[in-house]
Amino acid sequence: MKKITVVGAGNVGATAAQRIAEKHLAENVVLLDVIEGIPQGKALDMWESGPVEDFDSAVIGTNDYSDTAGSDIVVITAGLARKPGMTRDDLLMKNAEIVRSVTEQVVPVSPDAVIVVVSNPLDVMTWVSMKTSGFPKNRVVGMAGVLDSARFRLFIAKELNVSVMDVQALVLGGHGDSMVPLIRYSTVSGIPISELMSAERIEQLVDRARNGGIEIVNYLKTGSAYYAPSSSAVEMVDAIVKNRQRILPCAAYLEGEYGLNGMYVGVPVKLGRNGIEKVIELKLTDKELAELHRSAMDVKTNIDKLGM
Ligand code: LAC
Repeated sequence: MKKITVVGAGNVGATAAQRIAEKHLAENVVLLDVIEGIPQGKALDMWESGPVEDFDSAVIGTNDYSDTAGSDIVVITAGLARKPGMTRDDLLMKNAEIVRSVTEQVVPVSPDAVIVVVSNPLDVMTWVSMKTSGFPKNRVVGMAGVLDSARFRLFIAKELNVSVMDVQALVLGGHGDSMVPLIRYSTVSGIPISELMSAERIEQLVDRARNGGIEIVNYLKTGSAYYAPSSSAVEMVDAIVKNRQRILPCAAYLEGEYGLNGMYVGVPVKLGRNGIEKVIELKLTDKELAELHRSAMDVKTNIDKLGM
């Protein structure tokens, strides 16, 4: 593909742009932010690493959406992090406003793009972007399951002392707190993890993955995770750019699948050139389905608060 835009030049956005360039995923990488100078400085600095890192992609920083025109993919990372004194609801309202405004400016200049949303609260922000864009549901997808399962996969690999490459995990539901890990589908080279460790230990690893974002915030104090979140977003970008038809857990707009309607929530999807090529509907146990619905209700409650 020719052009990929990343909106938001904070740590997640800038690291995503770097990974896109270093993985040769686009001829042009555009990094956009409202703050003057930051996207320009970070982008030029990144571009200057091209001769050493071996990429020919142009990396352009800008404050102007006209520079993003004709993007094949737009990754939206813009949004505030929670500041002291701010409630979750304050954050929800503020970031919904930011994601809405970003989407409104992206769409007229890149009407054929696939939008990958990374801003939090993830599932709700993806819904905001989709509703604002007027795009078909397949062309707006949210990143969360890849990150939540990457964390879970690492913890499993460490526990069993096996390569992360051989650990597969499937996580459904909303991002973070309410994620629903499907233990039955979590394996080491096809061997269910339940045959390799105790239920108690699995539950501890699930818990750690569920709180993976907070664990990083507690260390960093002034910010949240960005290496693994940017990797996860770029894995989705790679699947779309190369039309790989990868099966990844992503936030997808549901219309009846899993008995859910009119909301985004994490489910396994097939990702390719058109974004979400297909939602994979698994047969869940009653318990898994109940957990997924509980998680989806949290997302729905927040969507309703927006009154959009
Ligand atoms: C995390 C936040 C950033 O999970 O969503 O790290």
